Amino acid sequence: MYRSHTCGELRQRNIGNEVTLAGWLQTTRDFGGMTFIDLRDRYGITQLVFNMETNKALCEKARTLGREFVIQAKGVVVERSNKNPKMPTGDIEIIVSELNILNKAKTPPFTIENDTDGGDDLRMKFRYLDLRREEVQQKIMFRHQVGHETRTYLNANGFLDIETPFLIKSTPEGARDFVVPSRMNPGEFYALPQSPQTFKQLLMVSGYDKYYQITRCFRDEDLRADRQPEFTQIDCEMAFVEQEDILNMFEGLIKHIFRTVKGIELGDFPRMQYDDAMRLYGSDKPDMRFGMQFVEMNDLVQGKGFGVFDNAELVIGINAENCAEFTRKQLDELTDFVKRPQIGATGLIYLRYNADGTLKSSVDKFYSEDELKKWAESADMKPGDLLLVLCGNTDKVRKQMNELRLELGNRLGLRPKDVFKPLWVLDFPLLEYNEDDNRWYAMHHPFTSPKKQDIDYLYTDPARVRADAYDLAINGVEVGGGSIRIFDKGLQAEMFKRLGFTDEEAQKQFGFLMNAFEYGAPPHGGLAFGFDRLCAVLNGVESIRDFIAFPKNNSGRDMMLDSPSTIDEKQLKELSIALRG
Ligand code: AMO
Repeated sequence: MYRSHTCGELRQRNIGNEVTLAGWLQTTRDFGGMTFIDLRDRYGITQLVFNMETNKALCEKARTLGREFVIQAKGVVVERSNKNPKMPTGDIEIIVSELNILNKAKTPPFTIENDTDGGDDLRMKFRYLDLRREEVQQKIMFRHQVGHETRTYLNANGFLDIETPFLIKSTPEGARDFVVPSRMNPGEFYALPQSPQTFKQLLMVSGYDKYYQITRCFRDEDLRADRQPEFTQIDCEMAFVEQEDILNMFEGLIKHIFRTVKGIELGDFPRMQYDDAMRLYGSDKPDMRFGMQFVEMNDLVQGKGFGVFDNAELVIGINAENCAEFTRKQLDELTDFVKRPQIGATGLIYLRYNADGTLKSSVDKFYSEDELKKWAESADMKPGDLLLVLCGNTDKVRKQMNELRLELGNRLGLRPKDVFKPLWVLDFPLLEYNEDDNRWYAMHHPFTSPKKQDIDYLYTDPARVRADAYDLAINGVEVGGGSIRIFDKGLQAEMFKRLGFTDEEAQKQFGFLMNAFEYGAPPHGGLAFGFDRLCAVLNGVESIRDFIAFPKNNSGRDMMLDSPSTIDEKQLKELSIALRG
């Protein structure tokens, strides 16, 4: 028996017990007469004690051990004279009577501590050591718990966990595919799924009316803190449902996860139309932890001789409450913020509503006191508030103001990590126009159903067609999204036509789905949550990396495996891939 207990388990009640522990040596502290070792496993840390006077040989042996040695210690649990209230095992220690080295260890290239001295690259290279750090272990264990509760809820609601293939044909979800050459079919390639979208729809045709899968998806897209080239979805689909059924079922899932994993009761999730989200927050995933809604000001500001506003398609303001005292420097910082190339505003205009009731703006010479008063009223300003105004092309200025709002939210401490505000965003546009290649793209994916009442616009005014599509945002992060699907072959064919496919192309790429729709397809819909992202949001962090045991870095590299890498010529030949040059 290697161990009788874990390193996180022993308490006062165990005093007097003979125990055997095994784990990694975290630290050794040598005090002449006494030596202490912190023994660590994923459950915690327990202090081992060696006494020079009572067991000199063992104490000397203990002093020879290095960090991260794998050791086994037998001994008796005693009460500590010097208790450590910060550690769950801090009331006890083990007086060791037998010590075995199970394996030696090289000194690790960085300290195995939360506050480690290892840089990003080094930790990624030695990910198996990074995974020993408590901070990372907590996240990996947290992910397990979220997965477990997800399965508990979905199983209890009659969902079947069904696996779908990884070697498939590309499904157009907007990103590029990772492809895999086929040895047995020279010159041909599989694609890794960007999501199991078409398979879960086929499962509905097959009659498996509640499906889920916690599964890997692969997308060759630019990476960010909350994006990995391979990531995991909680992918779900239901038959004989309307949007309302889906929203209720999966709001239930998210509430269940918050209740069981975080001990937080979330009230019913508010809902917002996509159009309103864009108008009031400039984002399809607004952070609802704070207000600062946009106020559209065109009527108030245009036609007074200030060309910048007169020439703008949209002028919007936000009220930063209690910020009238911002210094010149603070305002300059905000101006620099919106002028950064990533944001791209040309300037920022402000109006201070001073505590004494006077108004002061950066464009005083164009506007009278009365006019400025109207601005203040339109934004519900009180004395002490600051109005920040941006203007320009509608889409651009909304995006810019969204960035400014979030930045202000951060600066003013309005985005606390332990407050969670979910929001369903509903009725996304079905299509979006891409100026670069002059065609329409499906905003969600081509299988999304247009709203019944909007179908006619498909032919006259495609931009106006809304979809039965929904996203769940929590604290400004898109954690999931889905839609009610088209289940009629004719409408699906029409949709492909709108997206610029010829009948032949559509048949070649999606014939399998459209043909299936001829054999009794039920109405269906579903959604997928980003599992890694959901875990990150639940912890109030942006990066999903540490919720993934072996993630890629921002260039899509696995630093530990040093992958991607070249393959040898023999392999290439077998795959019928010719080397260039
Ligand atoms: P969508 O493309 O919106 O929908 O993806 C669903 C959710 O997956 C997460 N996500 C990601 N997480 C980490 N890294 C990425 N690169 C990444 N890309 C997406 C997001 C997102 O909300 N088949 C549809 C779902 C459906 O219609 O049922 C789909 O894949 O949290």
